Amino acid sequence: MPHLFGERIRLRAAEKEDITLFLTWVNDPEVTEHLMLAYPMAQFEEERWYENMMTLPAAEHVMVIEIQAEDAPAGHRPIGTCQYHNLDWRCRNAEVGIMIGEKAFWNQGYGTETMKLLLRHGFETLNLHRIWLRVYDTNKRGIRAYEKAGFAYEGMFREAHYQNGQYCNVHLMSVLRPEWTLNQKILKNQGSD
Ligand SMILES: CC(C)(COP(=O)(O)OP(=O)(O)OC[C@H]1O[C@@H](n2cnc3c(N)ncnc32)[C@H](O)[C@@H]1OP(=O)(O)O)[C@@H](O)C(=O)NCCC(=O)NCCS
Repeated sequence: MPHLFGERIRLRAAEKEDITLFLTWVNDPEVTEHLMLAYPMAQFEEERWYENMMTLPAAEHVMVIEIQAEDAPAGHRPIGTCQYHNLDWRCRNAEVGIMIGEKAFWNQGYGTETMKLLLRHGFETLNLHRIWLRVYDTNKRGIRAYEKAGFAYEGMFREAHYQNGQYCNVHLMSVLRPEWTLNQKILKNQGSD
């Protein structure tokens, strides 16, 4: 798959060599606080996860989020991952997930930009109709980033997640293709004013 380019980021395929970096992210409790990862991850498990992931259809492969960095070897620095999953080609639905593992880069708009890029790819290349996600109601940063990217609140699974001795609601958010198309037109018109 060719790289996907945003304004400040690019998405590239995840390589086996990325596994060591992924391990530092998925073993950081602050990073995983709002993810479905509840156990320490061993190198062997991460390698097995990678092998399994590569057997999925190409559209569901994990992509690495990279930002431009002059001091990095390839001019780009990996800061996280994102992925489409649960692709339903008949109903043209897909779920998206994201993890920015480098905490120093939180709150700088990269999560929002990644989601916008995934939406563009999903609607313009994969020809999807609905792109959705799940987010814990405790993940205020995530919810705000998804709203900024254009996701609308759709509903919730009540007390569907248990963490830190408490149940929390799991919100569903989504974007439908006509909503995304309308937003693109509005943005284009604003640009031409
Ligand atoms: C969630 C995540 C993807 C968001 O990406 P990000 O690049 O940090 O987010 P952005 O900078 O694009 O947007 C964050 C927004 O939330 C706001 N925010 C941060 N903390 C907040 C809080 N406690 N309450 C309300 N808003 C908050 C920021 O101010 C910003 O909004 P603004 O631009 O209007 O000021 C990223 O932080 C991450 O991967 N975290 C760890 C793993 C994770 O939670 N994955 C998602 C699981 S659903």
